[in-house]
Amino acid sequence: MDNERWSMKGATALVTGGSKGIGRAIVEELARFGVVVHTCCRNEEELNAMLNQWKSMNLCVTGSVCDVSNHAQREKLMHEVQSIFNGKLDILVNNAGTGGPGWRPATQITSEEYSSLMATNFESSFHLSQLAHPLLKASGRGNVVFISSIAGTGGFPEGVAVYCCTKGAINQLGRALACEWAGDMIRVNCIAPGIIKTSMTQPF
Ligand SMILES: NC(=O)c1ccc[n+]([C@@H]2O[C@H](COP(=O)([O-])OP(=O)(O)OC[C@H]3O[C@@H](n4cnc5c(N)ncnc54)[C@H](OP(=O)(O)O)[C@@H]3O)[C@@H](O)[C@H]2O)c1
Repeated sequence: MDNERWSMKGATALVTGGSKGIGRAIVEELARFGVVVHTCCRNEEELNAMLNQWKSMNLCVTGSVCDVSNHAQREKLMHEVQSIFNGKLDILVNNAGTGGPGWRPATQITSEEYSSLMATNFESSFHLSQLAHPLLKASGRGNVVFISSIAGTGGFPEGVAVYCCTKGAINQLGRALACEWAGDMIRVNCIAPGIIKTSMTQPF
């Protein structure tokens, strides 16, 4: 491959949930193409371990501790991103997500568990995109990538009903924002992976 042709040198990205799994792979791939990446997760120890590892690999990655299910922490994260990247963001990857309290039948899901799953997977993706909009617009070539799932379009018997709803909602949000923000030169896409071996899918 012609590396120069595919270089993304100088671009900036926020990838949520980059300490492991799919998010970690996205962080590393973008950073290898020259993108300056900021990421976040809840576990400070794991984040610091990854930041040290990326430094030793000469990858340009910074990070914050942030629970994306929390409104105030999302605002704080975006303030940090705004300051680190001088008000311009080229790529937002809404990756952080969870299966919630474990894969259980819909009849057993409590209202707290429902709210937590919706806040982590869907509300965070909407609110972070909303907060990032001025930064993406300022870039002139903004990109939003939602990490959805095949669970967002199918029906499954494994006790994933609410998870499926969060991903279905993300798909629809992606379609709507792709139209609404096209005039701001912000491209919006959804990626819907099948099952990938990460900590989230260990029970399967
Ligand atoms: N694996 C699959 O088969 C699969 C298939 C389709 C779609 N997906 C989607 O892909 C995304 C990543 O999944 P994965 O399999 O890579 O999961 P994973 O290995 O469990 O990694 C999840 C990442 O998100 C972070 N995270 C989780 N909850 C968070 C929160 N409330 N605030 C901030 N960060 C949070 C985790 O760090 P902390 O725990 O430290 O916060 C971790 O960095 C999810 O949206 C998932 O729904 C996965």
